[in-house]
Amino acid sequence: MKLSEERRKALRVTVDYTNVTDKYLGAKGYSEGRINKYKSIARAAHAYVAENRGKDELFMGWTELPYNQDEIVADILNTAKFVRKTFDNFVVLGIGGSALGPTMAFNALCHLHYNDLPKSKRKGPRFYVEDNVDPVRMKELLDVIDVKKTCFNVISKSGATSETMTQYLIIADLLKKAGENVKDHVIFTTDAAKGNLVKISEELGGVKSYVLPDGVGGRFSELCPVGLLPAAVLGIDIKTLLKGAAYMDKLCKVSDYKKNPALCCALIQFVAMRDGKNIGVMMPYSDNLRYVSDWYAQLWAESLGKNLTLRGEECNVGQTPVKALGVTDQHSQVQLYTEGPYDKIVTFLSVGSYKEKFPIPHGCENIPDVSFLGGHTMEELIQAENKATAYALTKAGRLNYTINLPEVNEFTLGQLLFLFELQTAYAGAMLNVNTYNQPGVEAGKKATFALLGKPGYAEQKKELDGAASDYEYIV
Ligand code: PA5
Repeated sequence: MKLSEERRKALRVTVDYTNVTDKYLGAKGYSEGRINKYKSIARAAHAYVAENRGKDELFMGWTELPYNQDEIVADILNTAKFVRKTFDNFVVLGIGGSALGPTMAFNALCHLHYNDLPKSKRKGPRFYVEDNVDPVRMKELLDVIDVKKTCFNVISKSGATSETMTQYLIIADLLKKAGENVKDHVIFTTDAAKGNLVKISEELGGVKSYVLPDGVGGRFSELCPVGLLPAAVLGIDIKTLLKGAAYMDKLCKVSDYKKNPALCCALIQFVAMRDGKNIGVMMPYSDNLRYVSDWYAQLWAESLGKNLTLRGEECNVGQTPVKALGVTDQHSQVQLYTEGPYDKIVTFLSVGSYKEKFPIPHGCENIPDVSFLGGHTMEELIQAENKATAYALTKAGRLNYTINLPEVNEFTLGQLLFLFELQTAYAGAMLNVNTYNQPGVEAGKKATFALLGKPGYAEQKKELDGAASDYEYIV
């Protein structure tokens, strides 16, 4: 998609933090002075990210993804064309960062009932992301796909994640039993040199593979082949997605939080965390954006939830991300947000122009409770409810701010993803933690290895076997 400078400006994603300020929120809000107290920390975080961007050894290679993938993108587009021509189904096998990004982009940029559309109305094969090892889900996926007509994109940096490798073992076995050559049905996205998928590829005689770059961790991987290949298969314009990310990157070059959208969000969240707001609600007013909340939840939780600072001091920081959907959760969660404990800050994702407006017809003229709706559009209704909820929260002294997307498309989604990635990088630097590791996740992975008898984990297995439930506490 070619975008003029004027169109880019019109599609610029912006942050409105009016409802965090004391001017609008009263005593529960933050004065300019209070925010400014942390301004030097924000500037230092900005400088840290600017100085270290692109450094693989710090896992900051993700900052360069909008710029350094021309060849890879060309290759991905060719592969995507082949996949679309050859297969009826495209299944992502992966978990965490390898699954949440592809799910989010699919939901944001494709028809909300994509898989139910006839082939002629879809740009690509039917699409599934399998990010669990629930046996029922596995069996029921196999009820709706024919493995002979399916391409499986196995995404794993380590190739050692039990969930993804279990799925791989199952589909490889099924493909062999169906008389198919496994190599013709799989594409690997993995580490360049290390990891089991590299070995498996060699054993199979060279599987089509994409590299999950060294300096890119799972939760920062949506803009590398992890997310780009599935998106391209779906007919999503990946070049424009990357252009959107680059555009946001440019907007975030300045160290003044009033001009840098990602730094502004990081600073507001940092002040809120210091103020005991341990819960961050992400509430998009758009079904297309609903899985942005899931993707963001991993990014924010795994990156910031840490028990040690970079200097090794105990800190136990982070903020619990909560997912909500406007307007649906107005009828479920908003009561708590408005009147419950003052422990939250709400981020709204608002849309300026929905791709459908859907007029509401006139009717029920004798019932004023209903007839007033006629003549409006569903777009007007959802936007009014978004505004009304922000207003009600503000009136109740509840912190909330809004990220505005003029439209939901590749350019704005690219901006939004990069905004959140930079926001997380800034927030991690402000909290002085290692944003890019996840020792808490690794601990669970290792305990699973031990329980299932992986060689080298015998000691841990003994300990786990001994950790039986105490009958005294079973009711
Ligand atoms: O963000 C992360 O690093 C994790 O969520 C990983 O993506 C997840 O654990 C899967 O790991 P792998 O890619 O090695 O299979």
